[in-house]
Amino acid sequence: MAIHKIGVVGSGQMGSGIAQVSVQSGYEVYMTDAAQQFIDRGLSRITESWNTMLAKGKISEADLQTYQAHLHTTMDMNDFRDCDIVIEAIIENKDEKVAIFKKLDAILQPEALLLSNTSSIAITELAAVTQRTAKVAGLHFFNPVPVMKLVEIVRALETSDETVETLNAFAASLGKTSIIAKDTAGFIVNFLLIPYLIAAVRMYENGTATMEDIDAAMKLGTGYPMGPFTLMDYVGLDTTLFAAEVIYNDFPDPAYAPPALLKRMVAAGKLGKKSGKGFYDYSK
Ligand code: 3HC
Repeated sequence: MAIHKIGVVGSGQMGSGIAQVSVQSGYEVYMTDAAQQFIDRGLSRITESWNTMLAKGKISEADLQTYQAHLHTTMDMNDFRDCDIVIEAIIENKDEKVAIFKKLDAILQPEALLLSNTSSIAITELAAVTQRTAKVAGLHFFNPVPVMKLVEIVRALETSDETVETLNAFAASLGKTSIIAKDTAGFIVNFLLIPYLIAAVRMYENGTATMEDIDAAMKLGTGYPMGPFTLMDYVGLDTTLFAAEVIYNDFPDPAYAPPALLKRMVAAGKLGKKSGKGFYDYSK
């Protein structure tokens, strides 16, 4: 299947990152969100990243102009009607995702692929509200999208081999390595990562060590680029909690139970870097 136009629903950290790498890989990209202010914020994140690349000599002025010409924003999802691939990357809210999948299923051409970047919601449940179940799959990127080399392709129950093949080729065209996961809670990465992150919270809650020492332990002792608390602040405590709840729901092992401290911090609005405060303070 030839791919030319990509639609991205959601212009937050993940959506804007997906739009950015798609444009850089030569695709015509349409990005939308629920409000113009979100789109503007996503656009300025992308522009900032391109300006940094320009300043570092990684792209030329001509590249920048080409990228800008190929990135379109819209508040009207009907503009996605000719997209070959649409990737939904909104917040982890199942009702909102279902509404978007229903709407896009009616707008897109029958051969278009409809994908979700969800880290936790069952892809099969999103596919079930469409008339194109063979063409629905998960395409899970990692934060920061322009830097992280992995993409998880998630096969829902009825995803076709042809769809998986197309997605493997699409991921490669973005410069990413793809892996294939079944549609189970957490897929591959989060099923391994989230229990580790919440074990760190529990260790801190129990008073075994300080956050700083736990972070230093994993960063310097095992070569992880970020310790668990820094990473939770980076991906968002709400995202971490949501993924933990989904995994615990399907696999109710006490080791996977979301820790009380994580729940309280999310309730208090301490969501990490994006809210200015998480386990660490970013307000300055
Ligand atoms: N956009 C574009 N480029 C970026 C970037 C961004 N948001 N953030 C960093 N970079 C680039 C920098 O420009 C720099 O490029 P250069 O080497 O050409 O100068 C390079 O990445 C390294 O960045 P820095 O020097 O600023 O900082 P670090 O070396 O500390 O790297 C990091 C930053 C890449 C974020 C690194 O700390 C890291 O890999 N952290 C772990 C991230 C991780 O685990 N992500 C997965 C989270 S799980 C997830 O997303 C799944 C979800 O479902 C929960």
